Amino acid sequence: MKNKPSYSIEIVVNGESKKAEVSAEETLLHALRDKLGHTEVKEGCGKGDCGACAVLLDGKAVNACLTLALQAHQKEVVTVKGVGTREKPHPLQVSFVKHGAIQCGFCTAGMIVSAKGLLDKKPRPTRQEIKEAISGNLCRCTGYKKIVEAIEDAALRLNSLSGSSKLSKSSKAN
Ligand code: FES
Ligand code: FES
Repeated sequence: MKNKPSYSIEIVVNGESKKAEVSAEETLLHALRDKLGHTEVKEGCGKGDCGACAVLLDGKAVNACLTLALQAHQKEVVTVKGVGTREKPHPLQVSFVKHGAIQCGFCTAGMIVSAKGLLDKKPRPTRQEIKEAISGNLCRCTGYKKIVEAIEDAALRLNSLSGSSKLSKSSKAN
């Protein structure tokens, strides 16, 4: 049997440049989890229905199971670990814990990534915009209410942080 041709790709994952050999039909999810060790990207349905595998690709939330690894060549990928760490959590992560928006946790990585994609573009989203942004992320446990509240709270927190950093910059300038 002939070996499938492979291609070298280079992706910046969470700020770090990584290389992998992938086949033409290989998904970004497979490359991230099985070749680059990013098991924080979860595999749920594997066919675009659950959002567990969401990552940011050049700032846009995508399902890694529906994205070819080749499409990520020379692009930036952010996984939930790139959003924040245990030592330095992002306000979204703090807020998910505070609001009890995590139960079994299987959907959480994808939810946080989708929410980050939204807040980066739209720092003051409406409740409806939040619901739309996470409409591709399924959660079997929480009923979504706590997740939406957590994202609203994180947006408030981020806006007050950016307000206070602007204030401190202008008071330094004065
Ligand atoms: Fe990708 Fe479900 S694993 S959408
Ligand atoms: Fe269990 Fe969302 S917390 S699927």
